[in-house]
This record gives sequence, structure tokens and C-alpha cells, in this order.
Amino acid sequence: MNAITIDGPAASGKSTVGYQAAQRLDFIFFDTGVMYRAVAWALLDRGIDSTDVEAVGQVAAQLPIGVKAPGADAQDGRQATIQIGDLDVTWSIRSPSVDSIVSVVAANRLVRRELSRKQRNIGLEYGMGTTETAGVVMVGRDIGTVVLPEAPLKIYLKAPLDERARRRYNELVERGSEADFARIQDDMRLRDQIDSERTVAPLRPAMDAFQIQTEGASVLEVVEQILQLAAKHLNVAPPSPGKPDNTGGRNILPD
Ligand code: CDP
Repeated sequence: MNAITIDGPAASGKSTVGYQAAQRLDFIFFDTGVMYRAVAWALLDRGIDSTDVEAVGQVAAQLPIGVKAPGADAQDGRQATIQIGDLDVTWSIRSPSVDSIVSVVAANRLVRRELSRKQRNIGLEYGMGTTETAGVVMVGRDIGTVVLPEAPLKIYLKAPLDERARRRYNELVERGSEADFARIQDDMRLRDQIDSERTVAPLRPAMDAFQIQTEGASVLEVVEQILQLAAKHLNVAPPSPGKPDNTGGRNILPD
């Protein structure tokens, strides 16, 4: 199986590093966080109480979430286009209001049952070589522990809270969004706490995960470290220098 799992707390660099590693390996990149975010966004949109376990579970079961490789016209730095039905929610699922409820949504056992089953299917499909892609990099909180525990390479990324909050602050400012450092840091602390303490699939490194401290390391350094591990643990060709989009514009998670 050619699958790399990358787990870790908020803004630990999972998606930046995972995306680049996937491109270099010609693997599919799949960020599972977008699915939890899409459910949280839909609850806000429909005015549904995020603590109503049954109602939230029903939304997760029925929501037509689509994850697609961005078309050539998307020049706004997106790694994937996220849709709910025909609606593009790529950036709206990254709002502070979604941040503030997403961990409660993700602690819901019905939501997890629904989403992690879909994620596992994607991991198996792309990781087992049943499609033309070489493999998959899947990132989240429980990929190495629950979604794809048989993956041959598991990574757990770490960085101190203040550095992670700074990264998220800079991302928001670069996108031209409003950003309040203190609020970002407080929200992140709370989200990490809920993610780590929940009973179903809590955030923690798999027993056999390689833990990488990203404080003070460049993105490229962390990517290179993962590529070296991939060369040892996976069946991959020697890494090629940065390749463009490897998904040919097709749906990864069709709606
Ligand atoms: O980008 P950031 O690290 O801030 O968050 P994310 O990866 O987009 O995930 C958002 C939230 O979804 C997390 O805080 C978790 O509550 C939840 N999540 C999860 O529970 N399990 C996953 N596999 C991925 C995300």
C-alpha cells in the first residue's frame, strides 16, 4: 500500500507539507479536515445547533460534499476546491466562525462514523493503486490511528501553540482576511483540547508514527524528511522536483 498519513494539531503544517510531499511523489493529496469543516459550515448556514447530536449526525450523512482538484482558472492558492452541491465553499469553511464550532462537530460520534468511513474508502482506493495514481497522502487528526492504521508510513507533526497561531495568523493576513492573533491562539488552544480529549478517535500519534518537530524548520526541510522516509517505507520512484497538479481535475470525493 502506498499511503502516507499525516496527523497533528491545528496549523502544525499538515496540509502545506502534505500537499508538497504529494506533488513530489505524484500522489493524491486529501485533507480530511475539510469534510468536518463543511459539516460545521452547513450547520451555521442552516441555523442548526452544533451540540444537537442527532441533527448534526443527519447533516453529516446527507451533505453532498465534493472535493475536487482545482481547475486551471483557480489561481487563489487553493489546494482543492470544496463544494457543497454546486456551491464553492473552499474559503468560507476556513472562517473563524467555523473554527469555533468544528471541534464540537468533529467530536460527534455519528459525524465521525459517517466521515471516517468515506475517508477510509478514499485512502484504500488511492493507496492500493486501484486507480492510476501512485498513492495517497491523507492528513487529519486520526488518520494513522483510525482511518488508515495499516498505512506503511505515518507522520505526526508538532509545533508549539504560539508558533502555530502565528502561522494561521499569517495565512489569514495573506488571504486578506481579518485576523486577531489573541483570538486565533485562544481558539486553537480550545480546539486542540477538544480534539485531544474526545472519546472517539482523539488526536494522538499512532504508536508507530514518526514524530517531527516543525518549530524553526522550513516547509522544504520537513517535506524532504518525509520524502526520505517514503523512499524507505513505500514503493516509490525517486522523488522528482515539484510537479504540477497530479489529479487531472477529477473528483476525489464526488458529491
Ligand atoms: O487546518 P487546521 O489544522 O486548523 O484544521 P483542520 O485540519 O482543517 O481540521 C479542522 C477540525 O476538524 C479539527 O480541529 C478537528 O476537530 C477536526 N478533524 C478531525 O476531528 N479529524 C480529522 N481527521 C480531521 C479534522
